[in-house]
Amino acid sequence: MTTVKWNADLYDGKHGFVATRGGEALDLLEAQPGERVLDVGSGTGDHVAALRARGVDAIGVDASPEMVARAREKYPDHPFEVADVCDLGYREEFDAVFSNATLHWVDDSHGAAEAISNALRTGGRFVTEFGGSGNIQRIDSGIWRVRSELGLPMVLHKFYFPTIGEYTSLLEEAGRFRVDAAWLFDRPTPLEGPDGLVNWVRMFCADLIADVPDQDAFFARLEETLRPRLHRDGTWWADYRRIRVCATKGMF
Ligand code: BEZ
Repeated sequence: MTTVKWNADLYDGKHGFVATRGGEALDLLEAQPGERVLDVGSGTGDHVAALRARGVDAIGVDASPEMVARAREKYPDHPFEVADVCDLGYREEFDAVFSNATLHWVDDSHGAAEAISNALRTGGRFVTEFGGSGNIQRIDSGIWRVRSELGLPMVLHKFYFPTIGEYTSLLEEAGRFRVDAAWLFDRPTPLEGPDGLVNWVRMFCADLIADVPDQDAFFARLEETLRPRLHRDGTWWADYRRIRVCATKGMF
């Protein structure tokens, strides 16, 4: 998984929409009381808490020790573990796996699909939502444009934003899944406060700005560049585009 040092305060404080918006995908899981559910990339724990409140035996794993520490602080009675999705090591233990806003960070998508499939019993469900093809295209090109204007070099920054064809084929091949439904859709997302864009970039694209000598000047230029497209009615918007997939593990 791409290494990111997560700031759990900023994540919960200014980016609470990550969990809130993931609630729509969580509903598609149709988790039942008593079912064992694994939340991959559980962040600060809100989806595990929501599932457990409904009697679901949910546990959360996240690659970030900072996020797991915050989840345990918020929900001391709920189970959270630090684990990279590719190293999960569960065998046929879960009725369902859920993953929101996580799999675009994973370098080895094939390995992740295999590990998720291994964790599920035959007939188990997998519901995921994350960045799809074209996600944050405007933010990304704005950052590159300002870096280039300032004479800064290219920095390798890899997200996995697949098309439906790419990701559903991967699930079929790597995970022995039958894909039941898939969507790719624009989901413009409002960012909180007048510094919404700056906070978002600091939180999620820290590696693209780490070498910028004058950060204030960089962000002033970035806001100027993106304002015509991403600032409406006094609010900054992230040009999110989501892929959402429902699949079933089986012997097809
Ligand atoms: C996303 O949720 O789409 C996302 C978050 C951080 C960086 C890139 C994409």
